[in-house]
Amino acid sequence: MKKLVFATNNDHKLRELRQILPSEFDLLNLNDIGCTDEIPETGTTLEVNAAQKSFYIWNKYGINCFADDTGLEIESLGNEPGVYSARYAGEERSAAANMMKVLEKMEGESNRNARFRCVISLVIDGEEKQFEGIVNGKILTKKHGEAGFGYDPIFMPDGYNLSFAEMPADDKNQISHRGRAVMKLVDYLKNIH
Ligand code: IMP
Repeated sequence: MKKLVFATNNDHKLRELRQILPSEFDLLNLNDIGCTDEIPETGTTLEVNAAQKSFYIWNKYGINCFADDTGLEIESLGNEPGVYSARYAGEERSAAANMMKVLEKMEGESNRNARFRCVISLVIDGEEKQFEGIVNGKILTKKHGEAGFGYDPIFMPDGYNLSFAEMPADDKNQISHRGRAVMKLVDYLKNIH
């Protein structure tokens, strides 16, 4: 089996990927390799942050790995919160506070266009390859639904009449930014080995 580290401790993301990766890959998370470090994420773009995380693991452990970084990009806010999505309303990383900040900033705004963008950085034998996934949609004027996480209750993907937080997880994964980036990653991994 080929060891591949996903630089995350998010069990939900890990489980999802284990189901779709080719069976020759033994997918490990940060705990599995004994990494408890606070991996720096100091870049000003998703691309830089994702690469920072994957190269951190490659440089320290010498194991092939990948890392993801996601941002919500809102057109009328100049693509904010973007790379700062997790801590938009402060270091406590509260989803409720982040959503409230977005809704307040967009009060009365008619341009509700937004997108989630996910960048995956894969490092194989020290060589990097990136994969991008995007889902376009609109910012709602209030929260809808309870499922999911982050900004899901205020984001409605184009072509649907439901917020991400009102959709079954499988449906969201099919069309989400992360789902789309992961599909590209999996296609690539299937074809190189
Ligand atoms: P991460 O890079 O996956 O940790 O995502 C950074 C931040 O973007 C998260 O803390 C969430 O606030 C937001 N985010 C990422 N993916 C999603 C999603 O699928 N739905 C809602 N918010 C998300």
